[in-house]
This record gives sequence, C-alpha cells and structure tokens, in this order.
Amino acid sequence: MKVLLIGSGGREHAIALAVKKSPLCTELICAPGNPGMATLGKCFPVNIANPKEIAELAKKENADFTIIGPEGPLVDGVVDEFKKHGLLVFGPTGAAAQLEGSKAFSKEFMKRYNIPTAAYETFSDLQKAKDYLKEHAAPIVVKASGLAAGKGAVVCMSDAEALNAVEEMLGEKAIFGESGKTVVIEEFMEGEEASIFAVCDGKDYVLLAAAQDHKRIFDEDKGPNTGGMGAYAPAPLVTEEMFACIKKEVVEPTLQGMAKEGNPYTGILFVGIMATKNGPKVVEYNCRLGDPETQVVLEIYDGDLLELFYKAANGKLKEIAETESKGYAAVVVMASEGYPGKIKDSVPVSGVSEAEKKGAVVLHAGTKIQNGELQTAGGRVFGVVGKGNDLKTALDIAYSGVKEIKFTGAQYRRDIGKKGLS
Ligand code: AMP
Ligand code: GLY
Repeated sequence: MKVLLIGSGGREHAIALAVKKSPLCTELICAPGNPGMATLGKCFPVNIANPKEIAELAKKENADFTIIGPEGPLVDGVVDEFKKHGLLVFGPTGAAAQLEGSKAFSKEFMKRYNIPTAAYETFSDLQKAKDYLKEHAAPIVVKASGLAAGKGAVVCMSDAEALNAVEEMLGEKAIFGESGKTVVIEEFMEGEEASIFAVCDGKDYVLLAAAQDHKRIFDEDKGPNTGGMGAYAPAPLVTEEMFACIKKEVVEPTLQGMAKEGNPYTGILFVGIMATKNGPKVVEYNCRLGDPETQVVLEIYDGDLLELFYKAANGKLKEIAETESKGYAAVVVMASEGYPGKIKDSVPVSGVSEAEKKGAVVLHAGTKIQNGELQTAGGRVFGVVGKGNDLKTALDIAYSGVKEIKFTGAQYRRDIGKKGLS
C-alpha cells in the first residue's frame, strides 16, 4: 500500500523507518517531512494547520492509508475530514482527540469514569482562580486547558508562582491565547513518570513498551520543561503488576467511556502516568505517540507497525496478537542553543554519518538542507538512538553517536536513562 505520513519531527522520522520496514508498504510519502524522512520517501509541502489541505494531498497522491503524527491536525479534525472523503486514516476524530485537546474535558471524563488522576478545579475567571489559590497552598499545578506545545503545565512550588501562572494565562497577557482562557488547577502529585502507549481500534487495544521521558532541559531534572530531552524503553518502573493496573483502571475504562459517549477512540492513546505511592495516576492523555518516546518504543517493537496501525484503523485489532518488544533502546536529544527558549538556528551540522558508523540511529527533528548543507532548524535537532540487549549498551551506543555530531551551541543531557540503570 501507498502510505502518507504527516509530520516533520523525530517521532515521524521514527515512524517512517518502521513503516518502510513493513512488507505491506509499497511506497512511503511524507508531508511536510524533514531531511531524514526525505531519505525514506518523497516529501510534499503541506500546511499541517489545514485539515482540508492534508486530505486533498492524500487524495491527489492516491494514498491508500494516512498516518497522522502530531496532535494539532487531530484536534483540528483532520480524521473527520478524511472520513468525509472516504479516505483511510489512522488517528482519533476531533471529538475523541479532545482527550488531549481539552484538559477541562479530560479531567471531567476521568471523574465520570473513576479513572485515577489528581484532584482539580477548572476556572475561566481570574478572580475565582486567585481565591481558590488562597485556600490551596503550593505545591500545586496550573495548566492551560488547550494545546500549548507541551508548555502549558506549570508545576508551582510556591504560592507566588501559582498566582503568577494563573495571571499569565487568565489575565491580560493571556500567554497561551485561547488555549489558556480556561485553566485547570490541580493537586501536585509526587512520583516517577512513565509514558504508556495503547494502539486502539475503537474497542480493542494493543500496548507498546512503556517508556520514560526526560522533560527538563538540564541533568538531574533541573531547569524548565521541554518537549523531551531523551527517553528509554522498556521502563523498569512499569512492572507487570503496574501494567495490569493501568490496563484495568485506565486504558479499558477510557475506551469504554469514549465508546459509550459516542466517540469510540481509534488511534494512539498515550497515557502519561505518575507512579504515586497510592498507585498509578493519570497526569494527562495525548492523542498521538510521544516525542521522543516513539524513537525508542518503535526501535524495540518486534512486530509490523504498519500492519498494526492499518488493522487498528479498520477496527480489526482482534486479529493482531500483542507483540513483545525486544531488547532496550535509548534516545538522547541534541537541542539548539537557547532551547527551550529562543533558539539560534541555521547552524551548520556535521558528523551524522560518523554517528551512524558507531551503530547509532540518527533521527532528524529540527534540520534543513540549505545550499546543500545540513543545518539546524528548530529546538530539538536530532534524536540519537542506541539499541542493545540491555539498557547500558543502548545508552553507550546512543552517547557514542552524540559525541560524533557537532554543531555550535549543541546541548544534550548526560544523564538519560540513569533512573533505569539504578
Ligand atoms: P502535562 O502537560 O499535563 O503532561 O504536564 C507536563 C509535566 O508537568 C508532566 O509530565 C509532569 O512532570 C508535570 N505535572 C503535570 N501535572 C502534574 C501534577 N498534578 N503533579 C505533579 N507534576 C505534574
Ligand atoms: N514527550 C512527551 C510528549 O510527547 O508529549
């Protein structure tokens, strides 16, 4: 089949690699893609903020099946647009993607179905939010309800920080625009986090390996949150017992609840879990794969990813056996100077093929080709992946690759996977 893959990040480069490996794939095309993806399939420009344009491209290029990588188009209803035209696509409808698109919706949904998560209140009035904070001391978490590129959650360790966060979102500044006009203020949870991925067909699901992300920019989890600076899988934090608990208390009631409400969930259900001392609790839902978690989860997935997504899109996951992952993988993200703040881009890059010679898989995230030269073009530039029979080997390979890649101002964490080793 001819597959169209939408997106341009490290996650999509990883999906492209996995799809290309499938015997079912006769041709891969990408939009908008990146220089790494361009080595696997032809890339087409597309405005991913325009669902109609994406569906038109699928039609024009006669794609048999489209995979949507990022959350934006999903929340904007790209799947509904495809369905209108009878085109086959993998992802949740706009209504189902509200699990990520609206934290106010997802928190209420979890309450309706007794899915364990932090206690919360929702506000759209600044004064009411401030009054609430007077009675609820820090540590506390303030979140923009809508999409905010991973930057909408502020973990406030002091009352002043919490007041500042609600003011920035609900006050005149409205730093997240519409996305922050409703805020969720929730209880601070303590524990380690894991990312769980369920491939869903509306009714049934298949779980991929659990991963652990590293959200802060600096070693030892210091500094501001980022999109993710590295990951590894499988995460030993998620024991078999915890997996069983997450299935029963989170994944199954979520799928049943969505179906019952007339929005059966097809696509990736990404559950961010906090392992608290009272058991696993949901930090958030996402409606797509994680970035950079995908780069490790797919590296160790031992099945045919295209077949898995295709069967899920056709409501036929029952025909697929749960596939064990093989070995361990780690990804170290190399980011531009200034990330996650204002970055410097168009910086020349060298050493990619040297890194590959060390056995690393180099996934492009924010790169471009300018005048025949590879340059940086975003906050997260590369994900350098290592794979092995154990986590230590996987990490050694990833870091030996990182050492080969050079660009001025490059920053990366030195402690990826440390928690998994201990
Ligand atoms: P979110 O955008 O909801 O995934 O939040 C981003 C990050 O903020 C999470 O990965 C956590 O590290 C942190 N976080 C979010 N909610 C909470 C919470 N209730 N308690 C503690 N940390 C949280
Ligand atoms: N790495 C976290 C995310 O993709 O949301």
